[in-house]
Amino acid sequence: MTPLASTVTQRPPARPAPAKIEARLLVVDDEQSMRDMLKIVLKRDGYDVQVAENGKRAIELLRRESFDLLLSDIQMPDATGVDVLRVAKDVNRDMVVFMMTAFASTESAVEAMRLGAVDYLTKPFNVDELRLKIRQHLEARRLKEENVLLKRALHAQHGLSNVIGRSPAMLALFQMVGTIAKTNSTVLVTGESGTGKEMVARAIHENSLRREHPFVALNCGAVPETLLESELFGHMKGAFTGADTMKKGLVEVAERGTIFLDEIGEMNATMQVKLLRVLQDRRFRRLGGTEEVQADIRVVAATNQDLSKIVGEGKFREDLYYRINVIEVHLPPLRDRREDIPLLAEHFLPKFAEQMGKPVTSISQEAQALLDAYDWPGNVRELQNVIERAVALEPSPVVLPESLPAHLRAGRAERAAEGTSEAGLPDLGEGFDLEARGEAFYRHYLALALERAGGVQVKAADMLGMSFRSFRYYAKKYKLREGDE
Ligand SMILES: Nc1ncnc2c1ncn2[C@@H]1O[C@H](COP(=O)(O)OP(=O)(O)OP(=O)(O)O)[C@@H](O)[C@H]1O
Ligand SMILES: [Mg+2]
Repeated sequence: MTPLASTVTQRPPARPAPAKIEARLLVVDDEQSMRDMLKIVLKRDGYDVQVAENGKRAIELLRRESFDLLLSDIQMPDATGVDVLRVAKDVNRDMVVFMMTAFASTESAVEAMRLGAVDYLTKPFNVDELRLKIRQHLEARRLKEENVLLKRALHAQHGLSNVIGRSPAMLALFQMVGTIAKTNSTVLVTGESGTGKEMVARAIHENSLRREHPFVALNCGAVPETLLESELFGHMKGAFTGADTMKKGLVEVAERGTIFLDEIGEMNATMQVKLLRVLQDRRFRRLGGTEEVQADIRVVAATNQDLSKIVGEGKFREDLYYRINVIEVHLPPLRDRREDIPLLAEHFLPKFAEQMGKPVTSISQEAQALLDAYDWPGNVRELQNVIERAVALEPSPVVLPESLPAHLRAGRAERAAEGTSEAGLPDLGEGFDLEARGEAFYRHYLALALERAGGVQVKAADMLGMSFRSFRYYAKKYKLREGDE
């Protein structure tokens, strides 16, 4: 913490004019000249400055509006600066508070610091030094906020706008994202689970003019209904049991940035009305608050449901649907853009190899053929998991089919059995190889049974109508990895 009395004597180092920080400041002093001077100086630094001429008025303002920083005199006729400080910390424990006094006393300084003031200035003080300190504290606070956001982003395991693809569908999508990113239009990203909806939402933000401001993601399906409103709009102190301090909602945290509403189809009817209001008027109200707050946000929503269908079922408001679905960005399932499979696999392979410190550098042709032919119900997420697993299991520098999950390999046998005669058996022809056909057939059913039996070999054997011993024999013979273990 900053040393107490030394604040006046240290001179700040000369430095170039720093970039502007957006913040709302409250200056409290019963002496008009002091108020005026601070207001002029701090306004010039680009802050939004409010003044109060006494403690009572300051407390009123603190309870009604939201501030980032308080600069208060200590000795005032009605309520003291320490009273104001208490209220400030009570409504928002992150508020940066500076105290100033003409009559320095160790006790009041200690009391102020104990209550959470960051500094205690003795009048007359050096204004440039105060400006610098204000800046430093606001900057530190901003970094702290950013850190919280960063952690959230990391938690969601995201690269930035690293969206990979070369299929015509994805190339068209890149172009579209590039164009719409620059607008403020609400975007609805649709597609099956794991197709990259969240990635695209981030890419829209990263390529927009809002990129310097926060991207905030909220999974509407994961937050309990009762908490969704306060999560989104924030709450005033005392709005409900447990709301012991004012808290900003995500809409406010995302100010000037983008808010990503994931699984929008899961939002309940009450919240749908409130969201509609934000989209229409760009205004909202904190829970328990009386004042309406302006919101400068861009909304990107995502769903893996067919929203128009749930509109038809009466579960989603039609008016909200049209507000959200201004521009739709659709991500096709991976099976409909197979050109992307090798590209994505190549992208994930070095990533996981590095992460695990393993020298796995390529994918064998045979393994690649299996990847290319598989249906990917879990889309890109599933492919990513398969590559991660392969890197972990692979003892050689090349990913071999054996390191892929059994159900992917089973697919190959199925295709090997393609071109069968009407009796369901393959025709004899050039290059016919009974051994290989037989092996493919066995492997397919062994793997399928094992998968359906959840990996329990006795059960799998039973499903195939064979003894456990036979099952073990064939599993070993045909090197069914899961069966071996
Ligand atoms: N085109 C892509 N390029 C690189 N990685 C991708 C791509 N698409 C998806 N991914 C990766 O796949 C995983 C799933 O993507 P994402 O979370 O964006 O999917 P989603 O559509 O939001 O899925 P869900 O509906 O289940 O939430 C992420 O780890 C993401 O990094
Ligand atoms: Mg998602």
